[in-house]
Amino acid sequence: ETAAAGHAPARGVHHSTRAAIPAPHLRADRWWLSPAVTAAGLLAFVVYSTWRAFAGTDYYAAPYVSPFYSPCLADNCVEMKGGADWGVVGSWWGLSPALLVLIFPLGFRLTCYYYRKAYYRGFWASPPACAVPEPHKKYSGETRFPLILQNVHRYFFYFAVLVAGILTYDAVLGFRDADGAWGHMGLGTLVLLANIALIWAYTLSCHSCRHIVGGRLRNFSKHPVRYRMWGWVSALNARHMQLAWASLVSVAVADFYVFLVASGAFSDPRFF
Ligand code: FES
Repeated sequence: ETAAAGHAPARGVHHSTRAAIPAPHLRADRWWLSPAVTAAGLLAFVVYSTWRAFAGTDYYAAPYVSPFYSPCLADNCVEMKGGADWGVVGSWWGLSPALLVLIFPLGFRLTCYYYRKAYYRGFWASPPACAVPEPHKKYSGETRFPLILQNVHRYFFYFAVLVAGILTYDAVLGFRDADGAWGHMGLGTLVLLANIALIWAYTLSCHSCRHIVGGRLRNFSKHPVRYRMWGWVSALNARHMQLAWASLVSVAVADFYVFLVASGAFSDPRFF
């Protein structure tokens, strides 16, 4: 067996062409800590978001809407003052309205280059860490079905921009009070603003975004504007992992905040 078409040999580090080292690996540090923490963090988010997405309640506390439920496309959405309750999906939809829209942010994150690394390591041990061989006998990378579908990431990016635009609109509506008058600011306004800032930073730091902005050019000297923008996106891109986590936490915090206020467990402090 030789490396076919540039891929690793079928039996990885145990292949006859590799040095016969009896130890499973030579790393002496706590290499397992990072994938373990990653898996625990992602699992916690999956449990929380599954609960909230299926709940279908307590997602709107005027003027705040949970990011899990926006845009709210179904007829069964609660009425939101000037908000994103679009009612474009008829009354035949009886489940939680969040389930109609979560596919977009979920698809974006599931196919994200960083999250792929995170869950391949954390959940599939493929490989668990640098220089630690994976337990699987074969490795085909992302060249075959189903993982070849990860290539749809670039298209999810466009949807992610759309969703970020809608969440920005929601955050702006946070400056109106429950009766629709402008000039309000509560703790919820700040929570939604912080969340949308992190969502934008994460979205714009996307590798696909970087390619859209600065890729496929023969030379930058003829495209000074794109070069400038590519520099900005590249600076964000260097922090993509941190932004992925920060925005994951912020979206859960924003949802939980709206849940607390909507369910009456907490009343939103108002600054003006
Ligand atoms: Fe992570 Fe695109 S690479 S969002």
